[in-house]
Amino acid sequence: MNVTLRIWRQNADGSDGALHDYKLTGISEDSSFLEMLDVLNEELFARGEEPIAFDSDCREGICGQCGLVINGVPHGNEGPSADQNTTTCQVHMRHFKDGDTITIEPWRSTAFPIIKDLVVNRSAFDRIIQAGGYISVNTGAAPDAHATPVPKQDADRSFEAAACIGCGACVAACPNGSAMLFTSAKVTHLGLLPQGKPENLQRVTDMLNQHDEEGFGSCTNIGECAAVCPKGISLDNIAFMNRQLAKAVFKGL
Ligand code: SF4
Ligand code: FES
Repeated sequence: MNVTLRIWRQNADGSDGALHDYKLTGISEDSSFLEMLDVLNEELFARGEEPIAFDSDCREGICGQCGLVINGVPHGNEGPSADQNTTTCQVHMRHFKDGDTITIEPWRSTAFPIIKDLVVNRSAFDRIIQAGGYISVNTGAAPDAHATPVPKQDADRSFEAAACIGCGACVAACPNGSAMLFTSAKVTHLGLLPQGKPENLQRVTDMLNQHDEEGFGSCTNIGECAAVCPKGISLDNIAFMNRQLAKAVFKGL
């Protein structure tokens, strides 16, 4: 395949960035999107030019480290089917056509400042987790797995919420730059389990305060976040979080 890549380049010093065009020839349609970028970087390196900075780690769709806006859509929305989104590392070149021009940009959000080229700083997510995304328990020997009964329905919903990999695509897709889908996934994951319930209201208050402090926007139920989420995190989690928040406000937290 021959493709033209239109890639956002920006220096680490915070100076203005711009889209630059690169032509790539002879790319296998079986290569992954990131392998294609690896090939480009090898060519740039051989020419003595600076390689393009982009993030990845597992390249198996599980770590949440990769994240590119491909042709205007976070993660490219090139999953096996329209309602089965995927991570950037699981996008393959066979989803594009020979001769395509592909535009590649970083996540764009005030709360995710660009570090360089396509790499953004997502540590705001870490600080939201630090604010309350945990359960305070005395450590000791692990209890028997079945010592604390959990209703099957709650266990399933909690597990589904725990599938969030913290990639940040929801923020990149949201016109408000809101991280409510991410935050609600963490709140729901812990808040449905007996071990997490005692701290529910304080957790929601603390995590949402941190969410706002980081500069993420408000949720106005647009739903772009869930539409691009590679792990199928649903808007129901935001509804759950809002119910907890209403209780917290009522209690004066
Ligand atoms: S909610 Fe989905 S899109 Fe947002 S960080 Fe989690 S996995 Fe990524
Ligand atoms: S590199 Fe780990 S999810 Fe893409």
